[in-house]
Amino acid sequence: MGPATMSAPEFLAAYGGPAVADRRRIRIELADPWHVRQHRALRHRVFVEQQGLFERSDLDDLDLPARTIVLVAVDAEGGVVGGVRLAPCADPDIGWWAGSRLVTAPGAPVGTGMALVRAACARAESEGVLRFDATVQADKERFFARLGWTRIREVERHGAPHVEMRWLPGRLAAQTASKLPIAAVLDGLTPGPAGFVGDDGAPVPGTDVVAVCDAILTRWSSATPGGRAGVRCW
Ligand SMILES: CC(C)(COP(=O)(O)OP(=O)(O)OC[C@H]1O[C@@H](n2cnc3c(N)ncnc32)[C@H](O)[C@@H]1OP(=O)(O)O)[C@@H](O)C(=O)NCCC(=O)NCCS
Repeated sequence: MGPATMSAPEFLAAYGGPAVADRRRIRIELADPWHVRQHRALRHRVFVEQQGLFERSDLDDLDLPARTIVLVAVDAEGGVVGGVRLAPCADPDIGWWAGSRLVTAPGAPVGTGMALVRAACARAESEGVLRFDATVQADKERFFARLGWTRIREVERHGAPHVEMRWLPGRLAAQTASKLPIAAVLDGLTPGPAGFVGDDGAPVPGTDVVAVCDAILTRWSSATPGGRAGVRCW
């Protein structure tokens, strides 16, 4: 079979690329209430019963808010073979979101987990997020790294080693890359007085104003009609 007649999964398998789900076998959907129940059952089987990360239940506060989004992988028969959830980290939403509870069913088609992560990133990007984080089990770091996630730090969660990882939306990754060349020029500049941490803002001497220049602040301010108390953007 020549390359022109190969499907994407066959091509990537042949040439050593990362797994891509075969769209004839699974599709990623926004979960309806039945899907959510199937995802939760899968989560319970894996995170509670198999991995023992939780004693009785892995349900938490993020399973309640209306803003939490659950994506599921559905097979050709309509069964849920995986899922993941994503939600804002703060209320009001400041553009910082996190993904969690990624899980696939035993026997799910190859590429299901990666397809879920890619779909979660795409969904986060379409929500306009500025950063998308996940605290992943340490032995899954490579899996996420292959999908463009970067390591922040090692942490312990539920008694097991985890790694905080971050994925930057494409437009922000491009902006970061374009700013890198000026890093050397700014290196060593500390805009604030002693004890002030941060390089996106500086206290204005003699006032209680902090002058800032940061994309997240305008987002934070505009998240609430009328702006946030104490925060004005010009
Ligand atoms: C982690 C998980 C979601 C991966 O999903 P999956 O459907 O098995 O993975 P995919 O088929 O999409 O990806 C397969 C590729 O990832 C690789 N991979 C899978 N798990 C990996 C891991 N822990 N570390 C590195 N690579 C991994 C496979 O080797 C394969 O690579 P290849 O394409 O070179 O052959 C799934 O194994 C799972 O549900 N695990 C239990 C729940 C869990 O631990 N969730 C993660 C919490 S952080």
